[in-house]
Amino acid sequence: MFKKIIFTFLICLLTINSHGLPFKGSKVIISASSRHAVEAGQEIYRKGGNVVDVAVTVGLTLAVTRPYFAAFGGGGFAMVKLNGKSVDVLDYREVAPLATSANFYKNRPPKSSQNGGAAIAVPGVPMGLWALHKKYGKLRWQQLFKKPIKLAQKGFPVSGDWVQRTNKTKKRFNKSGKKYFFKKNRSYLPGEIIKQPQLAKALRKMRAYGGKAFYSGSIAKDIVKSIKESKGVITLEDLKKYKVRWLKPLKTNFEGYTIYLMPPPSSGGVVIQSALKLAKKINLKRKKAFSIDELHHIGEILSRSFRGRSLLGDPDFHKNPISFLTSNKYLNKMAKSIHPYKSKKLKPFKQSKFKESAQTTHYSILDKNGNAVSITVTLNGAYGSGVVTNKYGIAMNNEMDDFTTIPNLPNMFGLIQGPGNSIKAQKRPLSSMSPTIVTKNNKAIMAIGAPGGPRIISTVFQILYRSLASGYDIDDAIQAPRVHHQFLPHKLFIDKGYRFTPLMVSSLEKRKHKVERSWNAKGFGVKLNKNGILEGAFDSRGEGAVGGF
Ligand code: DON
Repeated sequence: MFKKIIFTFLICLLTINSHGLPFKGSKVIISASSRHAVEAGQEIYRKGGNVVDVAVTVGLTLAVTRPYFAAFGGGGFAMVKLNGKSVDVLDYREVAPLATSANFYKNRPPKSSQNGGAAIAVPGVPMGLWALHKKYGKLRWQQLFKKPIKLAQKGFPVSGDWVQRTNKTKKRFNKSGKKYFFKKNRSYLPGEIIKQPQLAKALRKMRAYGGKAFYSGSIAKDIVKSIKESKGVITLEDLKKYKVRWLKPLKTNFEGYTIYLMPPPSSGGVVIQSALKLAKKINLKRKKAFSIDELHHIGEILSRSFRGRSLLGDPDFHKNPISFLTSNKYLNKMAKSIHPYKSKKLKPFKQSKFKESAQTTHYSILDKNGNAVSITVTLNGAYGSGVVTNKYGIAMNNEMDDFTTIPNLPNMFGLIQGPGNSIKAQKRPLSSMSPTIVTKNNKAIMAIGAPGGPRIISTVFQILYRSLASGYDIDDAIQAPRVHHQFLPHKLFIDKGYRFTPLMVSSLEKRKHKVERSWNAKGFGVKLNKNGILEGAFDSRGEGAVGGF
């Protein structure tokens, strides 16, 4: 018996790593924000599941264990590389309800796009996971639910991060949010078990009827009723009309690799592609890694790459000037405008200024055959709108705030966006989410992504750069210090904490950067290393887990 316990303990140590060190495997590797989700993925792989089966079960589990950013009331983007076929992109982002329009927030109380029912866009997560399974799944749909249903029904110990984020949302929650995510008279303590039998019921319906279980019938009625009680406008018709869409990724070559990037309605791909091209144009590689000279140039590259973000929007409603923004002509001009020793502010295309919060997550999966899935999912704010449905306890997003809510006025995060991103019924708001896959010889060798609003973009760019141009392993590439510049405000955001010394800050300030120590996005990445071993890591800036075989 004692031997068995020791053996089980050793196996756990070998298969799950929650401390940010790179995990190595030879068959499959999974990086995500919760160890329960990684374990669920491992179980499905063991049963013969492919990377998409693993991704779907990870997504279902995160909806249970990480409701603040992965609940069924959110939306996301998935990138898939499977069986040598071309890279595919699934957009299951939320859409604006039928009753909304460009002036929807004009006569509503301030912060209506942030809190309560009016902030909610039609969710996409259940339909997204279902669509991924239908197109690429190998196992039976029902098999993917075992672990998530058990975790919802029997419970799991909440983490410190869970407690912190839940407490922070307390004031914004509706009655059901307080009921489902708090004890009777107090909050949960880290390590205490939370059970969600109401969510287990929704999962069973989803297991039986697929993604559509959320878009008609009793779950849909629960969603509509709970949103209406919080002054929202989503109807059964909105839910019935919701559709995911398959998109073509953006593609760029870098250092002998092919990088697949997220197209609009994300701004991520366009900005990352511009940054990679600028890095090549100014020969960034010649600069010593993490020297002030290199960091200065990365800041200036990012600022110029972000300049065009305000020109983007949902491609079904807006013409995106992608070929202009990524053209040699425009980027040569941008490269020339970089001063070697001094940060320089360029004229904006349009007034835009933004800052977002930290309630998104990412997961990356890679197997030995060059198959990969890269998924970013979000509710936008912490527990989104704070509205949790009455019967099934589903947290609903506040993704409407990613639109240009009131033209020329900053939204809840100080964001003033372009007219291409104005609100229209059934339109998707512009996003920064950037799930990314790197291939070599038609096989995926890396999958990466991050939560963190616009900082996602600078994070994915720097992890790609460190990893592909400088040859860092995935863990070093993720943990390395990072800068962020989003054009407006004209500031260089750097990691808070120990990663930047006071001397580094003053040296950057000498180059006329307005430096601000700040939070950062958090990378979740997997990569095939030079020796043919799969490696995975998550960012020590936050919680996560890595596992595989
Ligand atoms: O789609 C977007 O860009 C935002 N809703 C993402 C927000 C986010 O990443 C906050 N995260 N940590």
